Amino acid sequence: MKNAIIIGGTSGIGKSLSEVLTTNNWKVAITGRREKLLKEIKESSNNKILTLQHDITEIDISDIKMESLFKKLESVNLVVVSSGISDLNQELEWQIENEIIKTNVNGIAKIYEFVFSKFKKQGYGHLVGISSIASLRGNRHCPSYSASKAFQANYLEALRCIVKNERLNIKITDVQPGFVNTVMAKGDGLFWVAPVKKASTQIYAGILKEKRKIYITKRWRLIAWTMKIAPSWVLEKL
Ligand SMILES: NC(=O)c1ccc[n+]([C@@H]2O[C@H](COP(=O)([O-])OP(=O)(O)OC[C@H]3O[C@@H](n4cnc5c(N)ncnc54)[C@H](OP(=O)(O)O)[C@@H]3O)[C@@H](O)[C@H]2O)c1
Repeated sequence: MKNAIIIGGTSGIGKSLSEVLTTNNWKVAITGRREKLLKEIKESSNNKILTLQHDITEIDISDIKMESLFKKLESVNLVVVSSGISDLNQELEWQIENEIIKTNVNGIAKIYEFVFSKFKKQGYGHLVGISSIASLRGNRHCPSYSASKAFQANYLEALRCIVKNERLNIKITDVQPGFVNTVMAKGDGLFWVAPVKKASTQIYAGILKEKRKIYITKRWRLIAWTMKIAPSWVLEKL
């Protein structure tokens, strides 16, 4: 049996992926801030899923919390970092921008750093980050969200470069979803919205193949390619 940790497993993609993993015989631990949901998930899994209340913005105690999970599981093969927040904020309301940066940039970077160091010490491991198609270009509807996702995607790419450079036995995967049907998918004009089960099943398949990048769903690769080459005036109109 292999062991996995999902950071941000109380709802949406992280929760669904924890179900896919347990169905496939993985031992799973999940984290999140909402204690009530953690308790419910633990109980409905017949205590199979381990849980830990952890707010990733509490940087000072993040390592201690993560260390306790690694100790409980003894060895960790896979860490999926699904935590994240988003909001529409063309008005650049600072409180919103700041919360997104604290969570999606500072909080996530601390987790990436801890997990990568841990995997380096234990000599193996697979780190999966969930960035977004939004990482590809700036988006006026959600400036800090799109920028924070670019940070995550670039950080994961940098970690992959360290792996190659230092010949480490660590796998790094960047998951880039388009729209997935969770509370996070907000706004008008959403299209190709994937059911969350379909998203988590495709993520699991990509993890097994140790892919560098996974588009969710697969046809979002097309949008990714278009966005990369789109001239700025097209983005300005979106
Ligand atoms: N849904 C989409 O269309 C879409 C598209 C592209 C990328 N994504 C990315 O996919 C990931 C999962 O999102 P989702 O769609 O599944 O939305 P979700 O249901 O809102 O899940 C977000 C998860 O992040 C956790 N989280 C938020 N803030 C946290 C914090 N400070 N500390 C610890 N955990 C925190 C939440 O748990 P608690 O609230 O319990 O802490 C929850 O488990 C996110 O990174 C998101 O950016 C989603």
